[in-house]
Amino acid sequence: MSASQSSPSARDQPGPQVTAQATAQPAGPYARARQAADEIRDRTGIDRFDVAVVLGSGLGSFADSLAGAQRLSMNGLAGFAPPGVPGHAGAIVAGRLGPCTVLVLAGRVHLYEGHDVHQVCHAVRTAAAAGVGAAVLTNAAGGIDPGYAVGSLVRIGDHLNLSGANPLTGPHDGPQPGFVDLSTAYDADLRAVAAQVAPEMAEGVYAGLAGPSFETPAEIRMLRAMGATLVGMSTTCETIALRQLGVRVAAFSLVTNRAAGLGEPLSHQEVTAVGQAAATDVVEFLTALVGAIDANPEATP
Ligand code: HPA
Repeated sequence: MSASQSSPSARDQPGPQVTAQATAQPAGPYARARQAADEIRDRTGIDRFDVAVVLGSGLGSFADSLAGAQRLSMNGLAGFAPPGVPGHAGAIVAGRLGPCTVLVLAGRVHLYEGHDVHQVCHAVRTAAAAGVGAAVLTNAAGGIDPGYAVGSLVRIGDHLNLSGANPLTGPHDGPQPGFVDLSTAYDADLRAVAAQVAPEMAEGVYAGLAGPSFETPAEIRMLRAMGATLVGMSTTCETIALRQLGVRVAAFSLVTNRAAGLGEPLSHQEVTAVGQAAATDVVEFLTALVGAIDANPEATP
């Protein structure tokens, strides 16, 4: 564990109320992420974070398991757009879980809301700029593999980025060219930790599409033929952005429904309801997982 914190008195000071409208923001997405990370440090008094956790629909209660939780609205931080989907809280929560400092990103924005890929990846780039070495991403997904029970969590072992976007596409102010190796996009060590925490959990391949319509049954047959076992509308671009910045990634899908054509007709209400019903189990898993992550593996003899 490598995090350092400033004094409790500094931590207790409410930070300046910086609003996106009032503050000049850097033009480039990577510089905006660094500015947001600086604001988070200033406002929380936490100098460096170990682990980021991105929460998908209906999973906001994970943040309640953090010690010393401090909640910031995404709306007031550099570069953040308020998320627009019911069930997304739109907050950043900073706190501790065991020895780790944790930055929870509760509420993401999506391509289907009309955001560009840099906006979609701003939260995870901010977490990278805040020092995290590992990120745990969660999402809601349709189950393509008929063996997945609705309400169960599946570990993502690999992905198909079919969103039509890639966060490394230039020009931008980040490292270029963006020929990032994705052979092990989802970190083998973190997957092994997850398998220890939840030995029964299946591992699958997540197809990330732009949405917002759900898929047709023909599209699901196509995705299945391509090797996908899960389908959703997030995560793949965030993973690519994090890998470029050297952050280890673990990701998990909550299967909220059987994919189109394999079960009942789909609805966002169902996705949210299943998320809420499974929230306690998911939060329990995430708490155990994050508590078991070695935040600084290079330092381990
Ligand atoms: N398809 C795409 N995204 C989703 C689904 C689905 O079936 N369920 C939850 N998110």
